[in-house]
Amino acid sequence: MRQTYARDAGTFRFGVGTSAYQTEGGLTAATWAAWERARRPKGQDTIRHGDRSGIANDAWNRFDEDLAALVWLGVDVYRFSVEWSRVEPLPGFIDDDAVQRYRDWCVRLRSAGISPMVTLHHFSEPAWFAHAGGFTDATAARAWVRFVELIATRLGDVVDEWITVNEPVGYVVQGWLRGIWPPGRTDAKLATQVLEHVLLAHADAYRTIHRLAEARGPDAGRACRVGVAHHIATFRPRRPHNPLDVWATRVVDRNFNHAVPAALRTGELRIRLPGIRHRSSHRALVATQDFFGLNHYHVLRASLQRPSGSHLPVIEVGASPTGEKGDLGVDIDVDSLAGAVRAVAVYGLPVEITEHGTCDGDDPDERRARHLLGAVRGVERLVREGLDVRSYVHWTLADSFEWAYGWDARFGLFSVDRETLERCPRPSAFRYRELIRQHREVRRPVGSHDADLAQAEGGGHDGF
Ligand code: BGC
Repeated sequence: MRQTYARDAGTFRFGVGTSAYQTEGGLTAATWAAWERARRPKGQDTIRHGDRSGIANDAWNRFDEDLAALVWLGVDVYRFSVEWSRVEPLPGFIDDDAVQRYRDWCVRLRSAGISPMVTLHHFSEPAWFAHAGGFTDATAARAWVRFVELIATRLGDVVDEWITVNEPVGYVVQGWLRGIWPPGRTDAKLATQVLEHVLLAHADAYRTIHRLAEARGPDAGRACRVGVAHHIATFRPRRPHNPLDVWATRVVDRNFNHAVPAALRTGELRIRLPGIRHRSSHRALVATQDFFGLNHYHVLRASLQRPSGSHLPVIEVGASPTGEKGDLGVDIDVDSLAGAVRAVAVYGLPVEITEHGTCDGDDPDERRARHLLGAVRGVERLVREGLDVRSYVHWTLADSFEWAYGWDARFGLFSVDRETLERCPRPSAFRYRELIRQHREVRRPVGSHDADLAQAEGGGHDGF
């Protein structure tokens, strides 16, 4: 689906994203809370330095501060997640006040001219759900549909855009294949089964949200948009001229980036990796995305290696020895976001960039600013070419609990004082704010006095 430049000039949106477990604090009924206290099989901490999410950024009680930051930035979209373990800490026990608070947030965001984009599953779920089998068990997932129904009923009139599941592949790889996130399993067969069930859970959520929106009337039905946020990494061969590395790159790209989007188009989920084979087919998966939610961060190098003592080759994925890195040691490249957008354009859906960011704790955070502005410029070129890209959501508003890396990874446009929890804009936040402001100049309705003035003065921004 292609759109004209003029239409995109009027609709491209900027935003920031967060997730509940990483920011809200006090989420003791979530799977992650027990995981933080557990130990890895060899006795190591599950979270770097034994960190705990604890009160996190106390975002649950500091919405005023976060809203003020969003307004100051001038964003059009705020992506955040509703935490299932807060809303339903025990099976069937619904915390109505919590639901009401999420609703209030949406109302206040809308009054401030900011669209809420709500994620329903962002790596975290209630401990009781996991104990009952979680997504390993297709029937346990019925509890998920009840949760989705509850939230879509209570928030549906104030939320148009929904992300059902954040990064299904990441959730499964880290939790069931590598065992570095809850539940800490390393079982390839189980991992692929969980992935299949998560996708079915997404499809159920997709239909539930649409059914409820349509029941609200044709306008609500049309406005409602539902998708998945897919993690799309850029894979490149470690040794560019080595055919085995080129082959390994193709294999990881196909399996980690494209298996899930392809399944949501055709209904066929196919995984073919060394030691892992999965094939399943579900018509229910077909056409369950209204947009392609794209999360993109880094470039990974793939190579085919034969570990000593093993007769089986393995695909290794990691950072290159040289090149620019984020603080977590991964390769970053200003052009890779545009490459990722191009790669997913094949699915024929409008693209919403639902996450992009850099881990940069330097002061000033020059890498973050450069990557943000450079990546947006790349997207701008794609929009000019006619690609249907509709938004850019930066990850993240303020430094937050970075899963297995704990507090030691700074992805925020704002830093957070861990003692006082005070948020403070980094230089990159000023740059992003300025970018949004310039963009707003050009998208004012034709004929508006200010836009005419900017044109007459030759000012403004030659962006989207
Ligand atoms: C996740 C976020 C995380 C970010 C930075 C994304 O894949 O959705 O929760 O904070 O990566 O690592």
